[in-house]
Amino acid sequence: MSEFLNGFKRTHTCGDLRGTDVGKTVRLVGWVQDYRNLGGFLFIVMRDRYGITQIHVDAGSPLFEQASKIRAEWVIGVEGKVISRGKDANQKLATGEIEVDATELRIFNRAETAPFAIHDRCDADEKIRLKYRYLDLRRPCLNRNIIMRSQITRIIRRVLEDHNFLDLETPVLGKSTPEGARDYLVPSRVQPGKFYALPQSPQLFKQLYMISGFDRYYQIARCFRDEDLRLDRQPEFTQIDMEMSFIEPEDIQNICEEMICTIFHEVLNIDLPRPFKRISWDESMDRFGVDAPDIRFGMELNNVTEIFRNTEFKLFAAALENKQGTIRAISVPASVKLSRKDIEQSLGDVAKTYGAKGLAWTKMTNGALDAGIAKQLSDTEKAALIDMLKPEEGGTLLFVADKLNIARNALGRVRKEIAVRNNWVPKVMTKTEDVGLTWVTDFPMFEWSDEDNRWYAMHHPFTSPRSSDWPAFEAGDLGNVYAQAYDLVLNGIELGGGSIRIHNIDVQKKVFAALGIGDAEARAKFSFLLDALSFGAPPHGGLAFGLDRMVMLLSGADSLRDVIAFPKTNKATDLMTEAPGDVDDKQLDELYIKTVMPEEQ
Ligand code: AMO
Repeated sequence: MSEFLNGFKRTHTCGDLRGTDVGKTVRLVGWVQDYRNLGGFLFIVMRDRYGITQIHVDAGSPLFEQASKIRAEWVIGVEGKVISRGKDANQKLATGEIEVDATELRIFNRAETAPFAIHDRCDADEKIRLKYRYLDLRRPCLNRNIIMRSQITRIIRRVLEDHNFLDLETPVLGKSTPEGARDYLVPSRVQPGKFYALPQSPQLFKQLYMISGFDRYYQIARCFRDEDLRLDRQPEFTQIDMEMSFIEPEDIQNICEEMICTIFHEVLNIDLPRPFKRISWDESMDRFGVDAPDIRFGMELNNVTEIFRNTEFKLFAAALENKQGTIRAISVPASVKLSRKDIEQSLGDVAKTYGAKGLAWTKMTNGALDAGIAKQLSDTEKAALIDMLKPEEGGTLLFVADKLNIARNALGRVRKEIAVRNNWVPKVMTKTEDVGLTWVTDFPMFEWSDEDNRWYAMHHPFTSPRSSDWPAFEAGDLGNVYAQAYDLVLNGIELGGGSIRIHNIDVQKKVFAALGIGDAEARAKFSFLLDALSFGAPPHGGLAFGLDRMVMLLSGADSLRDVIAFPKTNKATDLMTEAPGDVDDKQLDELYIKTVMPEEQ
C-alpha cells in the first residue's frame, strides 16, 4: 500500500456521477478548481481529466474546519454520499444533478497560488501560460484538445492496422532530406566537424521500407523544420506518415478517406460523403487563387483579362504589358457591406501582403457600375463585366491586376478574408456542411524561382512526373510538367500531401539534373537512394498528414500551440524549459564547436 494514498482509491472519476448514483458512497480524487465558504456550508469543486464534481461540507460537519482551509489547485481526496441537488441542479454540467456530501477528506498536496486562473475564460498572457504549461494544460479546453489528439491517434492506428499497415520506425539522427525547409543540425562528437540532420520527414526511409518489401508502412512521426513559424507551423511537429507499394493514387486516397471519415464520425459525430471532391491544381488556382482552397463558399475568381485586353484604363493596361499579366475579379454579394475604407485599406492591405499593388473596385448601383474605377472604364468594358460577373444590386466587384501568381493568390486571400469576416466559414465544425474537404491533384512538378534563377521541386524531388508529361520533361519544358502529387485540403488548410514516387533510377537522375543536382552531388547526397533504386524498387507512393493541423481543425483551435502539449513560440522557444539554452564550454569543446555571435562576425 502506498504511504501517500494509504489505500484511498477513487471509486469514480469527477465526470462519472449522475442522478442515478444518489445514495451511493463514493471516493473521488482530483484538484480543487473552486471553493466557496457560504457560512452555513461550503462548496468545493473538484476537477480531474474526466470532469468536475461539486462537494458539499456542512458547517456542522467535523470536516468543516479542515475543509475551509483548502485552496485552489490543492490535490485532495473526498469520501462521501451522493446527494441530489434537486431544484438547484446545473443542467449544463454532466454531473450537475448531484453533489457529494463529504464524510472524509484527504489532502494529498497543497499548491501555491497559481499565476493565472485555471479555467477556460482565463485571459492571461500566452507567455505566462506557456511558462507554466502544466497548469495551462489543466484548463478544460486544452485538456480536451490533448485528449482529442490521443483519440484521433488511436483511430488512425486502428484504421491503418486494419488495412495491414505496419507501424515502423525511422531514424531521427540522419542525413538531410530536402523538404524545402532548413534542417536542424546535430553535431557528431565522434566524427568532429560532421553533422546529423533531424528529419524534416521520414520520406526516404519510408521509400526504402518499400524497397525492402514491407509493402504498407505507417508511423506517427516527429518531424523537424527550421522555418518561419506561423499559427499553422511549428518547428517540431507530427506527421501521420504512410507509404504503400504497387498502388495508384486512388488506392492511398481511399484509405485516407476512410481514415478521415472514421475520425469525423467518432470524434465530431459528423458523417462525410465519399468520395471526396477532387480538383486539379490548375483548376484550384483558377477558381480559388490558392492551392489549398476553402470550398465551403462560392465567390470564385473570374478571369476578366480579355475584357481589358485593349483598355485605356492605365492601371489595368500597365499590368497587361507584362507577359504574365492578368486581371482577376470577384463579385461580392450585396449582403457584404464594404465601405471605401474597408476595401482600400483593410482588404487592400490583405492583397498587398500577398504582393498585389492594391485592390481595384466598383459597385453595382441602380443596375449600373458606379464608383471606384467605374469612371475609367468604357461602356463596353462595363457591360462585359456585368455580363460575366453578374454583380448583385448593391454588390461590389473587386479586382487584382498583376502577374498571374500574384493576382490569383492575392485575390484568393481577399476572398477568404471576406468569408472569415462575415462568418461564412465556421471554425468549429458541427455538421457536414461545415466541412470543406477536397483533394487537389496534379500539382506542377517544378516551380521556378526568380530569386534563385532555378527550378525547385514543388513537392519534393522524389515525386514522379505524370507519364503523359514525359515528352515535355524530355524536351526541357519544365513549366509544363505535372506531378502525380496530391494534397488533401480541409477548410482552406493543407492537411496532408503525397505522391507516387519515382522508382526508376534513370528518371530519378533526370529529375535531380532538372533541379540542378548533377551526378556528383546526387551521388554525394543520395547514393543510398540511387543504389536502392537499382536493386528492384517496386512502384510505390504515399502521403503524410499533419497530425497537429488535423487536431487544430477538428478541435476548432486557433493555433497549433493549442493542440501540442509542450509547443514552441514563434521564436522557436520553449518558455517552460527555456530551450534553446546555453551549454557548457566543455560540451562545445567535445564537439569541436566554437560559437561566433552575430555582432562579432
Ligand atoms: P509535406 O511537407 O507536405 O510532405 O508535409 C506533410 C504535412 O505535414 C504538415 N506540416 C506541418 N505541420 C506543422 N508544422 C509544420 N512546420 C509543418 N510542415 C508540414 C502539413 C503537411 O500537409 N514527405 C512528404 C509527404 C509525402 O510525400 O508522403 C512531406 O513531408 O499538414
